[in-house]
Amino acid sequence: MNTWRNQSVLSSAEWTPELLRPLLDLALVYKKAIAHKEDVRIEKQVSCLTLFYEPSTRTRLSFESAAHRLGMQVLSVANAGHDSSAFKGETLEDTGKILSAYADLIIMRHPEVGSVKRLSENSSVPVINAGDGAGEHPTQALLDLFTIEEVFGNLRGLHVGLCGDLKYGRTVHSLLRLLLQFGCKVTAIAPPELAFPNFETQGSLQEVLPSLDVLYMTRVQKERFQDLELYERVKANYSLSYSDLSRAKKTLKILHPLPRVNELDGAIDGDFRAHYFQQAANGVPVRMAILSQILL
Ligand code: NCD
Repeated sequence: MNTWRNQSVLSSAEWTPELLRPLLDLALVYKKAIAHKEDVRIEKQVSCLTLFYEPSTRTRLSFESAAHRLGMQVLSVANAGHDSSAFKGETLEDTGKILSAYADLIIMRHPEVGSVKRLSENSSVPVINAGDGAGEHPTQALLDLFTIEEVFGNLRGLHVGLCGDLKYGRTVHSLLRLLLQFGCKVTAIAPPELAFPNFETQGSLQEVLPSLDVLYMTRVQKERFQDLELYERVKANYSLSYSDLSRAKKTLKILHPLPRVNELDGAIDGDFRAHYFQQAANGVPVRMAILSQILL
């Protein structure tokens, strides 16, 4: 039975390892199919619509690439704050009602926590949360999980460090609970101002680095700060330089949801431990798995 069918994806809190297993397996099938340029179009005539009120490169385009590869029709509003009727004062509730008639699935990003859920409650088609402010970004977390499992073969027992802006970073909000559910040991590394709301967070990356299997770096989310002085003070605190890697395991993998600003030295890109570009590429097969399961 396909439990994803016609379901919205709002938060990783709705997920269990049993629910995710078929998706992770299917994502691997799609990844191989893409590599072999196979035709993976589904038979149904379905369409999806991306509605993005915040900037995006990877998330929107990897969703659209995934949908195109599956043979779906794609409608796209990339700058919805200005280019949709939101600019004229239309509510999210009304937008949800209207868009349900134009596509079979809505993929949405918005600056307010809870906004995607609100739209989904007024939509008759499933809605995927592609980032609601500092809330969640569940499909990014799924592709992060897929990437770690792909590299290590297994998740249980891995020591994963989540580092940077754990307060406003929505990807880590969705990822933390998945890593714990899959049996990883997680160390959260951030200054007190950027700590996780409900998970013990410690201060020193240098101290934790040697014992990590995975280091997941994040950008300090400038756009979420009310106090720009605080942003200036904390932004340089947590960065990884190439020389830091001499203290890390040879088997370490460095991930980052991207975009990066200054928290990952460009000199790391050529090191075999850098894995963030492969991670970003995994957005396509993982999102193909999600779209096809919801719409089949
Ligand atoms: C992240 C996001 O938008 O939350 N980017 C992404 O989706 N890959 C991370 C970020 O913007 O820092």
